[in-house]
Amino acid sequence: MMRMQRVCILGGSGFVGRHIANRLHDRGIHARIPTSYRERTKQILVVPGLELIQADIHDPERLRELFDECDAVINLVGILNEKGFDGSGFRHAHVELTDKVLAACRDTGIRRLLHMSALGADAENGPSYYQQTKGEAEQHVLAAKDLDVTVFRPSVIFGPEDNFFNQFASLLKLSPGVFPLPTPHARFSPVYVGDVAEAFVSSLQDRETFGKSYDLCGPETFNLEDLVRYTARTAGIRRAIWPCGDRLSRLQAKVLQRVPGKPYSMDNYLSATVDNVCAVNNLPQLGIHPTAMDAIVPGYLGSKTERARYNQFRQMARR
Ligand SMILES: NC(=O)c1ccc[n+]([C@@H]2O[C@H](COP(=O)([O-])OP(=O)(O)OC[C@H]3O[C@@H](n4cnc5c(N)ncnc54)[C@H](OP(=O)(O)O)[C@@H]3O)[C@@H](O)[C@H]2O)c1
Repeated sequence: MMRMQRVCILGGSGFVGRHIANRLHDRGIHARIPTSYRERTKQILVVPGLELIQADIHDPERLRELFDECDAVINLVGILNEKGFDGSGFRHAHVELTDKVLAACRDTGIRRLLHMSALGADAENGPSYYQQTKGEAEQHVLAAKDLDVTVFRPSVIFGPEDNFFNQFASLLKLSPGVFPLPTPHARFSPVYVGDVAEAFVSSLQDRETFGKSYDLCGPETFNLEDLVRYTARTAGIRRAIWPCGDRLSRLQAKVLQRVPGKPYSMDNYLSATVDNVCAVNNLPQLGIHPTAMDAIVPGYLGSKTERARYNQFRQMARR
C-alpha cells in the first residue's frame, strides 16, 4: 500500500477528532478537517499542519471537493440530540450523510473509509433514534464491498474535554444540594479517547481491519450511579445523588427536552435502557491495552482530593 499523506476527517473538529488529527500528525499524515464554523473551531483546534476548511459537508459537490487529493476518509459525525422529535435530524446526520460519504468516496476514487459508530447501534432493535440511525449507517458502510471500510463502536469515551465526566461535574456543581439522576442502572465501560484515537490511526493502513467492525471498551464496567458518584468524589463536589426510578427518569426527559439546548431527552433516556458494554472488547485485538479511568480522569476533573493529587503526580511522573 502506498504511504498515506492526507486524510479528510468529517466531524474532526470535535472531541475525538482532535485526538485523531494529532496522532495522524505524529505519523506524518496531514489532516483536512471541514467545519461548519471555522472562526470558532480554529481557536480550539490546534494541530500542526492542519487544513481547516469552512464547508457544508451535506452538499455532495462540496464533499467531492474536500475528498480531492485525500488518501482516506474518517467519518466521525454524530449527534446526541436532534432539533425536532421525529428522528429526521438523526437520520440526516447519521444515515443520509453516510450515504453521501460513500458516494463521494466512489466518485473520487477513495477506497479507505473509517467510520465512527457507537456501541449499542442497532438498526432493527435499537430503542432510540440515535441507536437505530447509527445502526443503519453502520450497515450501509459494511455493505460497501467495493471499498475498504472499518467501523468502530465505542462505549462512552472519556478524556480531557469529554462530554461525559465534565458535563456531570458541571451539572453536579449547578444542582442545589441534591442531584436527581435518571437511569442510574444504565451500564457503561468507559473507554479512553487516546485508545479510541489509536484504534483509528493504527487501523488506517492495516488490511486486517478491512470490512470489520470493532467494539471498543475500557477495562471496567460501572453503572451510571457509580460513575456520577465517582465524578463527585474525584472533582471534590459534595452533593446527595438521588437515583430516579423509571417513571421519574422519563418525566425528567420529557421536561428537559423542551428546555433550550435539550440537556436531556427521551431519545437519551431510551438509549440508556440498554447496556453500553462490550460482549468482547476488541481493543486488545488492535494491539491496544485499555486505559483505566482512574489513570486519567482525576488529572482533569480538577479535584482537590488527596487521591487526585496523587494521580496527577503519577501522571506527571509518567508512572
Ligand atoms: N463522545 C462519546 O462518548 C462517544 C461515544 C460513542 C460514540 N461516539 C461517536 O463518536 C463521534 C465523535 O464524537 P465526539 O464526542 O468527538 O463528538 P463532538 O465533539 O460533538 O464532535 C462532532 C463533530 O461533528 C460535527 N457535526 C455535528 N453535527 C453535525 C451535523 N449535523 N452535520 C455535520 N457535522 C456535524 C461538528 O463539527 P463542526 O461544529 O465543526 O461543524 C462536531 O465538531 C460521534 O459520531 C459520536 O456519535 C462518541
